[in-house]
Amino acid sequence: MNIIEAHEKGRNSRMVKICCIGAGYVGGPTMAVIALKCPAVEVVVVDISVARINAWNSDQLPIYEPGLDDVVRQCRGKNLFFSTDVEKHVFEADIIFVSVNTPTKTSGLGAGKAADLTYWESAARMIADVSKSDKIVVEKSTVPVKTAEAIEKILTHNSKGVNYQILSNPEFLAEGTAIQDLFNPDRVLIGGRETPEGQKAVQVLKAVYAQWVPEDRIITSNLWSAELTKLTANAFLADRISSVNSLTALCEATGADVTEVAYSVGMDSRISPKFLNASVGFGGSCFQKDILNLVYICECNGLPEVAEYWKHVIRINDNQKSRFVNRVVASMFNTPSPERNCGARLFLQERHGRHEGDAGNRRLQGLARR
Ligand SMILES: NC(=O)c1ccc[n+]([C@@H]2O[C@H](COP(=O)([O-])OP(=O)(O)OC[C@H]3O[C@@H](n4cnc5c(N)ncnc54)[C@H](O)[C@@H]3O)[C@@H](O)[C@H]2O)c1
Repeated sequence: MNIIEAHEKGRNSRMVKICCIGAGYVGGPTMAVIALKCPAVEVVVVDISVARINAWNSDQLPIYEPGLDDVVRQCRGKNLFFSTDVEKHVFEADIIFVSVNTPTKTSGLGAGKAADLTYWESAARMIADVSKSDKIVVEKSTVPVKTAEAIEKILTHNSKGVNYQILSNPEFLAEGTAIQDLFNPDRVLIGGRETPEGQKAVQVLKAVYAQWVPEDRIITSNLWSAELTKLTANAFLADRISSVNSLTALCEATGADVTEVAYSVGMDSRISPKFLNASVGFGGSCFQKDILNLVYICECNGLPEVAEYWKHVIRINDNQKSRFVNRVVASMFNTPSPERNCGARLFLQERHGRHEGDAGNRRLQGLARR
């Protein structure tokens, strides 16, 4: 069943409309690729940030991803649109992706660990306020397991007869290779309710991805498995980085070469060579926040040992950053100056880019300023 057939069965023959709330690193590229691969679908990406939407409508896109300009150029103005008129496009949409930011909470219960779902909740309330027709609401943001339950409550609290189906469709793209990852994903995961309506919604979204992703790479699961998979995938990736980094100090102490060790270990097909490059530690927007979120969920579920296990991945990462900075400082005879630290700063800026606000990175930058 393709997307058009799926839609016609459920409603009428007009163009399927997708609206994505959040024109960020995930929403922008993901929707551009959907528009390119599904010419029969109208895709509108909306955001409350006027500056961001203006940039998406200009020749200077707000983010740089190899290949993104080309994709946007091919569909913008045809079946891909960027708008700040959030309510209008939510009202008109059949499928609503929610791809808003879910940073770590900075205050209140779970501060420093739990995901801040303020943006998500306000998007859900707005959807509930403006919707007059049935909607498939897709969690694209990375959210704690069981979020769909809370979102369902918000949407159905005063649903005025509108039927909502919530799906979890986490995004696994990496910044820097987003377009390649979207064109050729290892897998697409869609979780839905195990009811006839839930499964029908899963099939509608599956039909969108099936326009270019081989069917055997589109996995369907229950909602909670899909939500938890995203956190688990990031935790496992970060775990590999911390695992190899934890051995760098031992290599330095013993004369072993971590590159040689990692190469030989990675030749084992059960282990694989990916994500085994020793480094200064992971940065970026997702690994730390998603592991902290996982830790918090474990604690909330009365699993302190499991929480402790994942906390260690972050501790090793912090330790690796400190070791790096200490070595830089030591190489300057422990008398760093702003001029001498310029190289380390440039490195950190490049590596941690837009994520200077992250707690771990602030600490690293503070150390680099010593
Ligand atoms: N960046 C990545 O590499 C990546 C990869 C996979 C998953 N994720 C997850 O995807 C989600 C989005 O990440 P991102 O990097 O795209 O975030 P982002 O900060 O780049 O973009 C989020 C956008 O949502 C907008 N927004 C917030 N509330 C809104 C509202 N109520 N209405 C309209 N717009 C609103 C913001 O203005 C912002 O432009 C997060 O949960 C993140 O964890 C990110």
